Amino acid sequence: MWAEKVGKQLGHPTRSVAGWLISKLLTARNRVLEENAVQLSKIQPGDTVLELGHGPGLGLQAAAKLLTEPTGRLIGVDYSEYMHQMASERLKELVASGKVTLHHCDVAAMPLAESTVDKVFHCNCYYFWPDLKKGATEIHRVMKPGGLMVTTLRLFHVATMAAKQVMPGENWQPEAYMAALRDSGFSDVRMEDIQDKKLSFQAIYATAWK
Ligand SMILES: C[S@@+](CC[C@H](N)C(=O)[O-])C[C@H]1O[C@@H](n2cnc3c(N)ncnc32)[C@H](O)[C@@H]1O
Repeated sequence: MWAEKVGKQLGHPTRSVAGWLISKLLTARNRVLEENAVQLSKIQPGDTVLELGHGPGLGLQAAAKLLTEPTGRLIGVDYSEYMHQMASERLKELVASGKVTLHHCDVAAMPLAESTVDKVFHCNCYYFWPDLKKGATEIHRVMKPGGLMVTTLRLFHVATMAAKQVMPGENWQPEAYMAALRDSGFSDVRMEDIQDKKLSFQAIYATAWK
């Protein structure tokens, strides 16, 4: 019962006491994972960069600092209205200047033109997607040929939560997501173990060949 409640809030935080607690947990626990996803994306100053399921917005903040050229653009999508509002507040100046655009929408249906994004990153997000192939196909659609996608996760923690039924089904398994990426036209799909600041985590990479 509690596991289902926690899983629902992790996958789609709502404006409530439980959602607020989850937002505090995400902010306290996931900064290193978010910052590593940004770093591993090899963002160039003039890139167009997209974060999926940005939650409170820590990764967006880190990515925005790297987009120093006038052409550099940052886009975020999250289907939680609460997280969309929290990130909009956190990045309000960059949103007002047009550097950052945040969409309150599903990863599987993004209001973005095809082949327009250089880099995509996300953390702790794909395990909540009901249809991995649909999500991966949509990411591939919006990415430029040769664009890089990176996701970071702490596999041990995710597997532990899945065993407690916090994550529904089997979509949390990296192999399931990597298979969906390959089926959607990505190449060089691979997972790596990484150690940073005493934190060990995994990164999945994929290149959008078209
Ligand atoms: C566990 S939180 C992770 C937030 C942040 N990336 C982090 O690591 O702290 C998952 C986030 O992904 C969002 N999310 C999950 N599935 C999504 C989907 N299909 N489309 C858009 N956002 C989604 C949720 O609303 C939530 O903000």
